[in-house]
Amino acid sequence: MKNQEIMLKDLKYNWHPCTQMKDHEFLPLIPIKKGEGVYLEDFEGNRYIDAISSWWVNLFGHSNHYINEKIKTQLETLEHVIFAGFTHEGAVRLGERICKLTGFDKVFYADNGSSAVEIAIKMSFHYWKNKGKIRPLFFSLENSYHGETIGALSVGDVGLYKDTYKEILIKNITLPIPKDESEEETNKALKKTREIFEKYHKDVSALIIEPLIQCAGYMKMHSSLFIKGLRELCDEFDIHLIADEIAVGFGRSGSMFACEQAGIKPDFMLLSKGLTGGYLPLSLVLTTNEVYMAFYCDYKELKAFLHSHSYTANPLGIAAANATLDIFERGEVFFESGEFRIVDKPRRSVLENNKLISEYIWEKMQKFRELPNVKEIRQKGMISAIEMIDYPWEKRMGLRVYEWGLKNGVLLRPLGNVIYFMPPYVINKEEIDKMVDVAFSGIKRLNELN
Ligand SMILES: Cc1ncc(COP(=O)(O)O)c(C=O)c1O
Repeated sequence: MKNQEIMLKDLKYNWHPCTQMKDHEFLPLIPIKKGEGVYLEDFEGNRYIDAISSWWVNLFGHSNHYINEKIKTQLETLEHVIFAGFTHEGAVRLGERICKLTGFDKVFYADNGSSAVEIAIKMSFHYWKNKGKIRPLFFSLENSYHGETIGALSVGDVGLYKDTYKEILIKNITLPIPKDESEEETNKALKKTREIFEKYHKDVSALIIEPLIQCAGYMKMHSSLFIKGLRELCDEFDIHLIADEIAVGFGRSGSMFACEQAGIKPDFMLLSKGLTGGYLPLSLVLTTNEVYMAFYCDYKELKAFLHSHSYTANPLGIAAANATLDIFERGEVFFESGEFRIVDKPRRSVLENNKLISEYIWEKMQKFRELPNVKEIRQKGMISAIEMIDYPWEKRMGLRVYEWGLKNGVLLRPLGNVIYFMPPYVINKEEIDKMVDVAFSGIKRLNELN
């Protein structure tokens, strides 16, 4: 079958996320036949560099042989088992590994990022309730995004996703973010935040943040000083801090977890996306013994945590997560040559290789400064963004860059006027050259089209 035929069949029945379906009257829907490394290939043999890691999930390439093998082995043994009253080997292994890696004590499982957010806000609220306090409010940050289920949407602030549903959301108070990463702006935002904390803290269970980078919030970046300041305020006013590392965890921010750069430990940390290397839906809510013990008592006290998903701790997802952690421990990647293998003693760790990748991307990105329609370029770790001038949203200039990218073999999926790179960690030098050059020509030509 050819692309067009599959597209038409798809559009007859399927409803796609984050899409005005009518757009597909002019915008092709691309059926993908296979994935390999950083490439996605359609049914006519066209290849696209996945510069956004398929919505920020893929870490070590599509059809990664090592992860494939681990999932296949798991599939032969156990595909799924109820996680209440039962457990399985993979979950025992992942629980121990992730606690040792992060310094948390307990792991609660779910199957996507938004569910992890729901769990964390329920768990925080329930913690205070078990302690005899009713705290129905949450703090979250201006420009934040935590997913699109009702609770997650409530603590988000990107109008595009939220405004339509405002009448059915839970109560939330939005805190200011610094205008830029300077100490002066950071302190200004923290000062205003303190005033809001003083006023509402007794009714607030938790503050939820995306540490360092608000990804869906147009790749806005914050200083570690800001994150540290928020932790200090939460300590002072006795409010939980929830770090949503769903997008930035597992090396995206430059360190394994973004909180490390601020030298803080939140009360809850949320992980998903890269957790399974981008293979299967799985998420984790990590927390402390202190939180856990507020629920641990005789049954008749009725304090047990109340949340369950049918696919909690699915063994296939967990096998992919354990394989992903193996790669962080034993994966050797060389971006100059595109080599990737598993060895006992890597000469270059994944994070070290990522550093070289991001330095190279940054060096290549400098040329965007010449373009009159580029306002700013920014980068933290493996996330690099180019913010174009404030084109009116109706003009959909980002979409033009997307179309140009597809025509030229690169999947770029802009956020409004922001074009960004968030590639798999196995991207090589030549592929980076192509990814950056196509984005450059795509943005440059907007000046001529206009
Ligand atoms: C920071 C953050 N939190 C939560 C989510 C929601 O995750 P999911 O799409 O798996 O529900 C996302 C998704 O992009 C995210 O970026």
